[in-house]
Amino acid sequence: MTETIGFCQETRPENCGFVLFGATGDLAGRKIIPALFGLCSKKLAPKNFYLLFAGRTPLDRPEFESRLAAIIEKSEGGLSPDCFKDFLDRTEYLRADYESPEFYARLAERLAALGAKFGAPRKHLFYLATPPAAFGLITRELRDSGLLSPPGDRARWSRVIIEKPYGESLESACALEAGLKQAAAEEQIYRIDHFTGKETVQNVLALRSANSVFDETWNAGFIDHVQITVFEELGLEGRAAFFERMGLARDMMSHLLQLAAITAMDLPASFRDTDFKTEKKRFFESLKRPCGSQPGQAVRAQYDGYLAEPGVAAGSVTETFLAFKFCVDNARWRGVPFYVRAGKKTGLKRTSIDLVYKKPAHGAFKDMDTGPANIFSMNMQPAETVSFSLITKHPGPKLCFTKKTMGLDYREHAEEFAAPTDYERLLIDAMAGDRTLFLSPFEMRFMWEFLSPLLAAWQGAPAQDPLYRYRPGTPGPAEAAALIEKDGRAWL
Ligand code: BG6
Repeated sequence: MTETIGFCQETRPENCGFVLFGATGDLAGRKIIPALFGLCSKKLAPKNFYLLFAGRTPLDRPEFESRLAAIIEKSEGGLSPDCFKDFLDRTEYLRADYESPEFYARLAERLAALGAKFGAPRKHLFYLATPPAAFGLITRELRDSGLLSPPGDRARWSRVIIEKPYGESLESACALEAGLKQAAAEEQIYRIDHFTGKETVQNVLALRSANSVFDETWNAGFIDHVQITVFEELGLEGRAAFFERMGLARDMMSHLLQLAAITAMDLPASFRDTDFKTEKKRFFESLKRPCGSQPGQAVRAQYDGYLAEPGVAAGSVTETFLAFKFCVDNARWRGVPFYVRAGKKTGLKRTSIDLVYKKPAHGAFKDMDTGPANIFSMNMQPAETVSFSLITKHPGPKLCFTKKTMGLDYREHAEEFAAPTDYERLLIDAMAGDRTLFLSPFEMRFMWEFLSPLLAAWQGAPAQDPLYRYRPGTPGPAEAAALIEKDGRAWL
């Protein structure tokens, strides 16, 4: 059993009704429904809590229940029968027709009935697990049917959660944003990037702020370069329709930028929404674009066999791997390159951030190799470890060096494994009205502004930035290795 020490900030979810649009879709089945069940089974859901799932597929009650059971059984936490019974008692399904005002009238009626039965009427969280094109329409209809309460109303609240990638381009993201804003106020919109909800991602901030040994050295005076890796073992997993439109860059860029920000932003004055977003924004404003106009600074690739995946278009040029370098133009990081790579089917799942320190320039070691540099590694998943490689004296009669690694496991005790998952944590925060870990409109726009030159270069001058190939089970193409090796460094 470990105890908390000193600083402790908690968010408590408020009693509310949760409405899931797109309940029969892929995202709902893979992430949202398991997270909702997880909140109930871990006793993290508020006391007065009910769920209304809405989807286009007609389902009678037995079909709905067996579908839920199948989803939850497959999920990481599995199905515990007692919790499942309670979950079912609190859950209804409604066939959705997002364009029809009658659907919203029926929704309002069911929410009123559920609110009266379970308590917490008039406090609603609407999760739009639908294609982004439907965000504006649903939000407007919610407003027109009186389901979206006016912001600032203390007796009731409505919050709308939307998922990345928020459109397919800067233009479509702005149009989407404008559509949402016609009906909802910014304080009612919660933009999820589930990486911010990961325990190990938040641990980066904890490590930096609570241990002066780290943050004080995280700057150009000490750090040679930073590496961010998001590798996946999985390929398309039946998501060809989505992935063919998106490609890896659009799909993963928000996650990559959030990891970069949490590592390299200045520490906020507090861990509250405004302070946190202010520092993140300052960091993003100082990022220099990776490439776009400069060919060869980003490497895109596709794994062999992608074209044979079901649902992939003949001759598709969708990338499944991306590596790029960026720099940060501020006093802390000027001159320190950040190397980033992400890919599907790389043979292993690995999300990690590595800070590679400069080698010592001590007079005694002049012209001598002191061995490898110190590396501070934060493994986010699936291993949840932190390690620091050091140079020590090699035991023996001579003064020689050797390398040793200090390490710790982020979770060791049973109760630490019961902590909320990324989606669970973000749902709790949304129910608590805490927007700290959700993205601002600036971040959403920035992501597209950062990415657009890259996408434009790939489309406009593909010969300069060709689509390379890599074998499944390998860490990407040789060109990704060359991207860092030409700077005299190597991927870890
Ligand atoms: C999602 C992407 O946002 O993140 C997926 O759409 C990707 O393509 C997933 O597989 C990775 O998330 P995690 O939490 O499994 O690392």
